[in-house]
Amino acid sequence: MNKLEVIFLSMLVGVQPLAAQNRLTVAADQGKDVISRHIYGHFSEHLGRCIYGGYWVGEDSPVPNTRGIRNDVVKALRNIAIPNLRWPGGCFADEYHWMDGIGPREKRPKMVNTNWGGVTEDNSFGTHEFLDLCEQLGCEPYISGNLGSGSVEEMSKWIEYITFDGESPMANLRRQNGRDKAWKVKFWGVGNESWGCGGNMLPETYSALYRQYATFCRNYGDNRLYKIACGASDADYNWTETVMKNVGGHMNGISLHYYTIPKNWGDKGSATRFSEQEYFTTIEKTLFMDELLTKHSNIMDRYDPQKRTGLITDEWGTWYNVEPNTNPGFLFQQNTMRDAIVAAINLNLFNRHCARVKMANIAQTVNVLQALILTENEKMLLTPTYWTFFLYKAHHDATLLPVSLTCDKYELNGRKLDALSVSASKDNAGKIHITIVNIDPNKAQNLETELRGTSAKKVSAKILTAPGIADFNSFEKPETVGVSDFKAVKLSGGIIKAELPAKSVVLLEIE
Ligand code: AHR
Repeated sequence: MNKLEVIFLSMLVGVQPLAAQNRLTVAADQGKDVISRHIYGHFSEHLGRCIYGGYWVGEDSPVPNTRGIRNDVVKALRNIAIPNLRWPGGCFADEYHWMDGIGPREKRPKMVNTNWGGVTEDNSFGTHEFLDLCEQLGCEPYISGNLGSGSVEEMSKWIEYITFDGESPMANLRRQNGRDKAWKVKFWGVGNESWGCGGNMLPETYSALYRQYATFCRNYGDNRLYKIACGASDADYNWTETVMKNVGGHMNGISLHYYTIPKNWGDKGSATRFSEQEYFTTIEKTLFMDELLTKHSNIMDRYDPQKRTGLITDEWGTWYNVEPNTNPGFLFQQNTMRDAIVAAINLNLFNRHCARVKMANIAQTVNVLQALILTENEKMLLTPTYWTFFLYKAHHDATLLPVSLTCDKYELNGRKLDALSVSASKDNAGKIHITIVNIDPNKAQNLETELRGTSAKKVSAKILTAPGIADFNSFEKPETVGVSDFKAVKLSGGIIKAELPAKSVVLLEIE
């Protein structure tokens, strides 16, 4: 946060920033916007071992499962209260023909997954399996429809198949396939990365197609679709501008994709072996999300000042080189304490932009990119990123509280970043939660926090940290990085004092 922002926020919370470094003021009585739990959403594609092996093992598998879906993965994701799951892609979505994935599994046609390793997709995981998975997870489905190589009719019929409860060709087909009752599906994507793998379109072409496709995405009965248009990659502000101008009120949300790549697309850098320089760049590039959210939101504000349209960051996370000796098309990477910090920074940013950001989906939940879960046959482990989501569930559907932070810098070779990243919220029970990241891999930070508009009576805390920034959980040592109770925090005279270890994510709970 720069000086001007600090002054502005201080004015907002009605206080002057305190003189010393690492001071946080939280305006506990001035919350306005709700942090949608959907900011903590997920993305799982037919890519590598995400769906197959990650969720789906089939009914006859020795891996304990319910109707073919792994019990251990479901349990772990329920434990972080997964709010939604985006499927089937990604790039895969614009080549996916949903009718190939219904009916008796042995009769389903096969296809080539051209985007991801050219492997044969046997369509054994389709619409029924996905919606069963969402029911087991207790989360909302978010389906990405095929605009790139599909048709208006195909997309329209998919919605009828899933959500129409009456008598109709598609609803009857669903019944024939074993599901009588219509499902509820709210989140519906109309194309994915249509500027790239989804069709290499210009924003004008996409806008026109969106309007056509979305017209036939019908609301059946009381099912109400929340239609999400394909938005920009990174800083392609022209895409957002053009779609906002041409599509306007025909959509409920517009997406944004941004990945943190420490080096470049040719050599992205290793997930586990990186220098401090590379760590610094990873964090710097992650913080760029703030500028992206601000600038895309500013454009949206011009067309939609009442903020009716959500900014949906439905692909974000780290993207490294694949692990040695793994299929390059499978995007399998390990996950270290650095990833936990990247996730925590991004989630703090989404929280702080929650007036506009209504959903975000990390890429991808299991075995792909910045995964929360890794599996190997019957084995499963939880990554450091998982534990960030575990801590941050305290913010689900809570009210964002304005904060004012003055803090030290993390410096490397003359480059500087704010050492701390913060967000705060108040939940329905009146508890205040503050998540703080100390990004400095070498130095602890003392933080004094003052609440305005309420008085703290009790504070407790949890911490996520590790001895090394590159530490990770492996199948041999699955608990190297995890969450524990944090004791270096005390409340005295209404001020909360905490000593935040280097490279840590801390959750304060205040009553
Ligand atoms: O998450 C991997 C890929 O990244 C997705 O399929 C695509 O949408 C993006 O380019």
